[in-house]
Amino acid sequence: MARITAGVATSHVPAIGAAIDLGKTKEPYWAPIFEGYEWSKTWIAEEKPDVVILVYNDHASAFSLEMIPTFVLGTAAEFKPADEGWGPRPVPVVKNDPEFAAHLAQSLVLDEFDMTLVNKMDVDHGLTVPMSLMFGQPDEWPVKVVPLAVNVLQYPPPTARRCFNLGKAIRRAVESYPKDLKVMIFGTGGMSHQIHGPRAGLINAEFDNKFLDLLVEDPEQLAAKSHLEYMRECGAEGVELIMWLIMRGALNDHVTPLRRFYHVPASNTAVGHIVLDNA
Ligand code: DHB
Ligand code: FE
Repeated sequence: MARITAGVATSHVPAIGAAIDLGKTKEPYWAPIFEGYEWSKTWIAEEKPDVVILVYNDHASAFSLEMIPTFVLGTAAEFKPADEGWGPRPVPVVKNDPEFAAHLAQSLVLDEFDMTLVNKMDVDHGLTVPMSLMFGQPDEWPVKVVPLAVNVLQYPPPTARRCFNLGKAIRRAVESYPKDLKVMIFGTGGMSHQIHGPRAGLINAEFDNKFLDLLVEDPEQLAAKSHLEYMRECGAEGVELIMWLIMRGALNDHVTPLRRFYHVPASNTAVGHIVLDNA
């Protein structure tokens, strides 16, 4: 059967994508950030997952105020990089495993998570920056990707608890897939950031590091927090962290952290990254 071997969380700051695409990764400002991912890139190249379920949020690229789906499951064969205003990123098209995605759709909906199934959707920095950070700059991505987009942009987003429980349903879905597949799940976004208004640039390293501790040891506490608490503590856009709980919910109660990295700043944002072994 299919099984989830690991969870990965990472920020998805768009300026990181631009730094990669413009060849700036060795510059003094950026080098420490990219060094922080070197271990993980080597690890995942050795692990060779078959499929990544990539939890992210669209930033008004594929969706807009015209349509605000809470949870989107990408079921098409492929997804192109979005044009976010300066042309699409020069990264490969994302190839899905449509049979596995169809199974996830069936399992999740029948398990009472009413996913919006989307067959036409360009994927923005929320998805492509984590791919670049983990897999570098290949001609083709070395893994199939099932995009799972969450509304964290327009109020009301789903609760942290709902996200955590969706992760548990994803685990049931994966473990009921009869084919042998090595699956990883990525949670992206965060950490502290607020990119508008009087608190723009807000960073709360203490909160972020406590979040990383609790993500490993006691995610229940994180699932119990309100949107207001996330926003107050780590910024309006820091609420993206609820997506990490989908990843965590899909893993065992006990996980082993293999790698943890935290860096400030990248653009206006704190960068956090953790790799959790699900053995
Ligand atoms: C920025 C945008 C994001 O979507 C994010 O998660 C972090 C930072 C930005 O515009 O700097
Ligand atoms: Fe974002």
